[in-house]
Amino acid sequence: MCGIVGYVGPDEALPIVLEGLRRLEYRGYDSAGVAVLDGDLTVVKRAGKLSELVTALDEDGHPGGTVAMGHTRWATHGAPTHRNAHPHLDCSGTVAVIHNGIIENFQQLRARLEKEGHTLASETDTELVAHLIEERLRDGGSLVEAVRATVRELEGAYSLVVMSSEEPGLLIGVKVASPLVVGVGAGESILASDIPAVLGRTTTVIPVDEGRIVEVRAGGATFSDFDGAVVHPDSIEVDWDTARAEKGGFDTFMLKEIHEQPSAIRDTLVGRVDELRRLALDDLRISDDVLREVNKVFVVACGTAYHSGLVAKYAIEHWTRLPVEIDIASEFRYRDPVLGPDTLTLAVSQSGETIDTLEAARHARRQSSPLLAVTNTVGSSLAREADGVIYMHAGPEIGVAATKTFATQMVSQYILAMYLAQVRGSMFPEEIAEVLTRMAELPAQVERAIALDAQVQELARRFQDSRDWLFIGRHTGYPAALEGALKLKEISYVHAEGYPAGELKHGPIALVEDGVPVVAVATTCHVYPKMLSNIQEVRARGAEVIAVATEGDEQIRGVAQHVLEVPETPELLSPVVVTVPLQLLAYHVARLRGSDVDQPRNLAKSVTVE
Ligand code: M6R
Repeated sequence: MCGIVGYVGPDEALPIVLEGLRRLEYRGYDSAGVAVLDGDLTVVKRAGKLSELVTALDEDGHPGGTVAMGHTRWATHGAPTHRNAHPHLDCSGTVAVIHNGIIENFQQLRARLEKEGHTLASETDTELVAHLIEERLRDGGSLVEAVRATVRELEGAYSLVVMSSEEPGLLIGVKVASPLVVGVGAGESILASDIPAVLGRTTTVIPVDEGRIVEVRAGGATFSDFDGAVVHPDSIEVDWDTARAEKGGFDTFMLKEIHEQPSAIRDTLVGRVDELRRLALDDLRISDDVLREVNKVFVVACGTAYHSGLVAKYAIEHWTRLPVEIDIASEFRYRDPVLGPDTLTLAVSQSGETIDTLEAARHARRQSSPLLAVTNTVGSSLAREADGVIYMHAGPEIGVAATKTFATQMVSQYILAMYLAQVRGSMFPEEIAEVLTRMAELPAQVERAIALDAQVQELARRFQDSRDWLFIGRHTGYPAALEGALKLKEISYVHAEGYPAGELKHGPIALVEDGVPVVAVATTCHVYPKMLSNIQEVRARGAEVIAVATEGDEQIRGVAQHVLEVPETPELLSPVVVTVPLQLLAYHVARLRGSDVDQPRNLAKSVTVE
């Protein structure tokens, strides 16, 4: 949540910062603002999307200067107004601060600052930081010393960027839980909350570690801890190119990313098998001995990643015979789960920065549970804190609604499940080889599912005004149904419930009345006959059933009014294919209803507050 970009170097800073903000707008889009330093600090900000800020700058002129920072906001403290937009200034107007996260002790700090006579111009927690730095600067000392003294007073999870007209050529970053990276370019440095902001200027990135302050100048960055001890973190090379963070001819990022699923899955699968045809996971870093000792797996994740974990539960239990518990990450650590060295915790997060998932993962590690991360983001907090990592290799996903990262999260977890089975001997090598062969067919099958687009668009037109939808499925069709409902909810703002089809009769079937669209995931599998009965039950009560069924299935046409045919896929793998028409359905309904699918209201791509 909240996008942060700061630039210091030889070039005009504002266009670089605006370009970085454009790439980060998926993190928040309630308001946007910039501060540019050229002798004095010039701050320009606007409520609304980044385009509002750009229009204001175009009308009033672009402030020049080679040091600048900018922010796109996802509101926490204070409404999304012009007044609350970042950057925020101290009383003297010489210190500017942008911020991602929450300062939890803000009420006490605000009361104290007001008592001490500070004029607070906004309702934000961020502004308090500028005033606290102002106080410390009054005590004497440098900007970095003032920042270091200030962070000792702050409680919460946040990242900050600070600049001052008194020390031009310097940006100071602080990281406490919320993500922050430094892009190292040729004679220039960029501070950002996320990697896409630095792409185009550099591919060399230094992730800022927890509890660090970084002083960023054109010539490089100096990292230290909160006591001032200098540290030397490693840099990483990012292989995402700028083209992959652009729309590439599609109307929206979401549609592009739906279409990228076949290639993303291929990239996830590549390089996972060694010359002896055995699965080999290079970044796993957890020894086979440890994996052999495991007697239970916990999966923790949020949102779409949680749905991918639900799918993984079926695969891990079936292939390894290990029991799997799956938790919504924000619930996990508060329920006192029974963890230890013989329980493996799998934290699934495309961003690797979702605070709920990070905190759940940290809780597991504190209880000595080996921690494996499934993430898309090299250098993310989760990747760095976990004992081992499986990278999804999906490339950047910009649309707030997760699509290709859902597919690749599932594929990554299938690979992990089979690796566990290989290590523990619960599958024969030929069985693993057979699953791998079927997984290699997934990209082509997803391609065929994408080809349903025109048919899905027709259905979207027919049902665009429906205010209540049900999505039902059984076995792996159930998490697929949950994911279909989540997609529809988050981008078209209509009510949708995902339900296990067999559970409907225990309550939710009361919602079914004439014309209610019920999307039924009903591909061929061992629960298919049961699924047919459940479809009959909703039909009998007036539902309009849209079934996602296996190609060539004639029986389904006798029970569902509308059928979307997808290629035959083994049931454990089928969510990868069946969710594609559900993504397209959500997409087209949302477009027809006029919502912004890439930046749906109230949401942000990376959720870094609890
Ligand atoms: O980055 P993560 O995978 O941890 O994100 C988890 C959820 O916030 C995310 O999947 C969210 O539910 C998406 N907007 C769903 O489309």
